[in-house]
Amino acid sequence: MTTGVRARLDALRAEIARHDYRYYVLDDPEIPDAEYDKLMAELKRLEAAHPALVTPDSPSQRVAGAPSGEFGEVVHEVPMLSLENGFAKEDVMAFDRRARERLGTQGPLDYFAEPKLDGLAVTLIFHDGVFERAATRGDGFKGEDVTANVRTIRACPLRLRGKAPRVLEVRGEVFMPIAGFERLNREAQDRGEKTFVNPRNAAAGSLRQLDPRITAARPLRVYFYGLGVVFGWQPPETQSGLIEALQAWGLPVCPHSERVRGAEGCLEYYRAMGRRRASLPYQIDGVVFKVDRRADQERLGFVSRAPRWALAQKFAAEEAVTRVRAIEFQVGRTGALTPVARLEPVFVGGVTVSNVTLHNLDEVWRKDVREGDTVVVRRAGDVIPELVRVIVERRPHPEHGPVALPRTCPVCRSAVIKPEGEAVARCTGAFSCPAQRQESIRHFASRRAMDIEGLGEKLVEQLVEGGIVSSPADLYTLTAGQLAGLERMGEKSAANLKQAIERSKRTTLPRLLYALGIREVGEATAGALARHFGDLHSLMSASEDEIQRVPDVGPVVAAHVAAFFASCEHRKVIQRLQEAGLAWPPVKKSSGDLPLSGQTFVLTGTLEGLSREQASEALTALGAKIAGSVSKKTRYVVAGADPGSKLEKARELGIEVLEEDALKRLLARHRR
Ligand code: IVH
Repeated sequence: MTTGVRARLDALRAEIARHDYRYYVLDDPEIPDAEYDKLMAELKRLEAAHPALVTPDSPSQRVAGAPSGEFGEVVHEVPMLSLENGFAKEDVMAFDRRARERLGTQGPLDYFAEPKLDGLAVTLIFHDGVFERAATRGDGFKGEDVTANVRTIRACPLRLRGKAPRVLEVRGEVFMPIAGFERLNREAQDRGEKTFVNPRNAAAGSLRQLDPRITAARPLRVYFYGLGVVFGWQPPETQSGLIEALQAWGLPVCPHSERVRGAEGCLEYYRAMGRRRASLPYQIDGVVFKVDRRADQERLGFVSRAPRWALAQKFAAEEAVTRVRAIEFQVGRTGALTPVARLEPVFVGGVTVSNVTLHNLDEVWRKDVREGDTVVVRRAGDVIPELVRVIVERRPHPEHGPVALPRTCPVCRSAVIKPEGEAVARCTGAFSCPAQRQESIRHFASRRAMDIEGLGEKLVEQLVEGGIVSSPADLYTLTAGQLAGLERMGEKSAANLKQAIERSKRTTLPRLLYALGIREVGEATAGALARHFGDLHSLMSASEDEIQRVPDVGPVVAAHVAAFFASCEHRKVIQRLQEAGLAWPPVKKSSGDLPLSGQTFVLTGTLEGLSREQASEALTALGAKIAGSVSKKTRYVVAGADPGSKLEKARELGIEVLEEDALKRLLARHRR
């Protein structure tokens, strides 16, 4: 009877170990989780009935032993070293040059490039293939015995596959995948408990639990990348070969590592991983380059506590801590007051950040940002920097109360109003407020409006502050002499600017309408108004009701449009623009039923044959709407080269994706 049970137990254990291997090492599961759970339940049932047949390497024995009072100490026979850090391209070049010089190699060296996982280093010992002990890195010479906790990590095999050496010490990184980290934090939040700051802390905290049952419930993973003590085995000649050998033993290795050639290959890998970083399922803080050939590694040796054959090339930190010097209000084109935090300059995400927008007062109150606060600032990729949170514990002066709404405009001292229920406060000064004047002229000249090249922020500021320009129409009476008199403006650039202003006179009605800066009228609405009315005169004489008949124009927008054209001041500006020679061809009137009416497009990535603006313009001319993010309402996502997360989102929601060629065909089909 026991022989039958023994055989079934062996079979079950082998089967479960094989599924663990397929899931964690090959990332290619064969059976659904429910099937796996059934096997595990059967194993536990049989073992409970036959306790004498339980083996230490049985998959049921991951949580073993009672909680310990403290961790034992483990001395690392082969010290666990650290890595030299690099940040700039030059650091990689210098690392590669030094390695080649020492080795006397002329041609490019092969490197093995790996993600630098943001977790904690561990070392595991297998005796005759059976997992025996695990330890943390500690100070590199002595670590803590975390055997009971590492056993609970299901990705970690309890027995190696195939023929194993007498002693094998493998080293790697324990980490928490982002999805698991987020789930853990959600659960903690639901229970009203403290959340972890980042996946690294969560992984470290989970591994250092005195009760392995807690560790077992945490979604930890491990990837192996190196060796410690080895007896009875001749390691492969290269790091890439070692990784293959580890994987063959059933030890998980990072799937995003690869062999590259020379400093060029390293830099290319670094850039590629930098782009992929945000979409990886785990956090990395850089990449590691290792000289691939073992013999070369041995010849290069070590300096102090780091090998000469490896370099950790770090990514720029995406978060940093700094102090809020002041909170000021900027006045925008429509008078909207935007709170801005002035910061002690801080280097984050590869740039120095000294200002962050706080969007609106509700946001300031929600985050409770005050002057003098210590705050966490984040800048990921090319995203604009944001203030993540206040470190309230470090608030120095309780005398700084919450930020209050200013009663008057900080620029023109006109009254400030904040209508009930609106998040935005506004200066009521309109065109008498220099800030609003300046912003509306800047908007008028911007690329998607009148596209006056060379008329940037600094110049507009000088023109408005110097009293030379106070309305968009004044731009067209500027003389080359006036322009040349401005700061940092030579004769040549003055002539160029004059030319750009002249060029902008030939425009389109949608651009002009957008340039005028009517509240709530963006590019799409400007296009819709132009198509509905055909010419400016008809729009200017239309009633609010008539304007509301334009597709997608509601009562609020209609009221803003009507009010804008009712103002004498605005009418005068338009008249002067026409007198200055501005011209726009009439727009073919549409009944509202354009070929792409009611269809929303989202653009992502770089198109080759046309710019994003050209694509948007062409699509909106056909009635399409352009949105900034993908939702269920999106009809098509247009994907160019290097598309972003929008493409992933599209795939997730099953939204049709158009590549550049398909977009061109679609445009051609509908153009008359
Ligand atoms: S190799 C002698 N490879 O980085 C070589 N380390 O700064 C020692 N780390 O303690 C380590 N990913 O915790 C290596 N692919 C990788 C790594 C990696 C993350 C961590 C590890 C180590 C630290 C050194």
